[in-house]
Amino acid sequence: MKAIKVGLLGIGTVGSGTFNVLRRNQDVIRGRAGRGIEIAMVADLNIERAREIVGDAAVVVSDARELIANPEIDIVVELIGGYGIAKALVLEAIAAGKHVVTANKALLAVHGTEIFAAAHAKGVIVAFEAAVAGGIPIIKALREGLTANRIEWIAGIINGTTNFILSEMRGKGLDFGVVLKEAQRLGYAEADPTFDIEGVDAAHKATIMSAIAFGIPVQFDKAHVEGITKLQAADIKYAEQLGYRIKLLGIARRRDNGIELRVHPTLIPSQRLIANVEGAMNAVVVQGDAVGTTLYYGKGAGSEPTASAVIADLVDITRLHTADPDHRVPHLAFQPDAMNDTPILAMDDVVTAFYLRLCVADQAGVLSSITTILAENDISIDAVLQRESAEGEKQTDLIILTHDTVEGRMNKALSQMQALPTVLAPIVKLRKEELA
Ligand code: NDP
Ligand code: HSE
Repeated sequence: MKAIKVGLLGIGTVGSGTFNVLRRNQDVIRGRAGRGIEIAMVADLNIERAREIVGDAAVVVSDARELIANPEIDIVVELIGGYGIAKALVLEAIAAGKHVVTANKALLAVHGTEIFAAAHAKGVIVAFEAAVAGGIPIIKALREGLTANRIEWIAGIINGTTNFILSEMRGKGLDFGVVLKEAQRLGYAEADPTFDIEGVDAAHKATIMSAIAFGIPVQFDKAHVEGITKLQAADIKYAEQLGYRIKLLGIARRRDNGIELRVHPTLIPSQRLIANVEGAMNAVVVQGDAVGTTLYYGKGAGSEPTASAVIADLVDITRLHTADPDHRVPHLAFQPDAMNDTPILAMDDVVTAFYLRLCVADQAGVLSSITTILAENDISIDAVLQRESAEGEKQTDLIILTHDTVEGRMNKALSQMQALPTVLAPIVKLRKEELA
């Protein structure tokens, strides 16, 4: 049978990986897909570099629209990134009746509803395994492997750049800026690395997973987003002393009153497998009511790991594109008429445990005034650690771990504690998840 023809929009880190892996493994890929998968055309702004990568194996153009207009092309792979031109090109490819594969989590988290509706109306597939957790087949697992389950929660290290930064800072004592540059050099970071370090990229991915897990629309604008830029070395150290590691987690959790969707640095017990995920590796824990806890681990960024997911989508489309659209796996796991509008909870309504660091005057009665405020707000303490002060020092650090409470209640208690004259600096608040 004739090979299925693919057009590649963008041949940078992921695009070049896709081209190379497809060529290197073409025999096994053909054996699995049932026919060859051929990159017939590539569009990239940098034509010279694109030609160096593909040689004469594919036609290279600078105008993406020329590729979309080519009737020979069956599948368009969008590997440009961002919400701008990529959105227009994906919608144009769908309108032209092409199936689309994309690794662009930003695009899907923000404009997914419009894109999936357009694809549904046109009867084409938009596949996006590479958009979440790089090479880990987490979309396949959530959408198909765990389809029997009511998903209760998902918690994941889903940004390789920040996990790499946290690991290198903790393990080698390197500076934030130095490690970020290395992550960029290795091709892990987004074009705008603030998306990585401010938690935006992880929130894009958590948003996509929340939609698939709970049958809700993608709602990136409702996600709580906090990155690692304000994280202090002292808190990493105190967390270790208390038996915890700090990781940037993306969390989506179903509660009785709605869905929590949040990304922030999180203390996790150091004996949990996910707490020991280092470097650019990603890991996602999924709790389903039937299966219990499952864990998915692997490379979350980089050229060939991400290409692995892009090509898995190409094989899926090659196998399925002739099937009746109504019999395909729905884009977001649920049939469009079975989606629901369960609200995303405001952070004040989120239930979690906390780590607090207070810089306090080293004098009698300070601890009791703080614990009284927590008790009055019905917040239960799990552990307390006080740094031993050096001789003559008049202040010290007080670390408090709490049990689960509603965040709004914690914020009220925090403002009361902050007003105490014996609390000498802004209180550091981090969230803690047992992931039991
Ligand atoms: P790169 O920046 O390495 O590659 C993007 C390529 O697209 C560049 O070659 C760029 O050319 C080209 N390009 C830009 N605008 C156009 C245009 N209008 N027409 C044609 N080509 C264009 O990005 P990545 O490969 O790292 O990322 C691609 C996508 O994959 C993004 O959505 C990213 O979020 C996602 N992703 C990336 C991962 C990674 O590890 N890198 C992992 C998972 C997902 P030029 O350089 O000349 O601008
Ligand atoms: N910038 C992303 C990361 C790429 O570091 O995880 C993979 O999506």
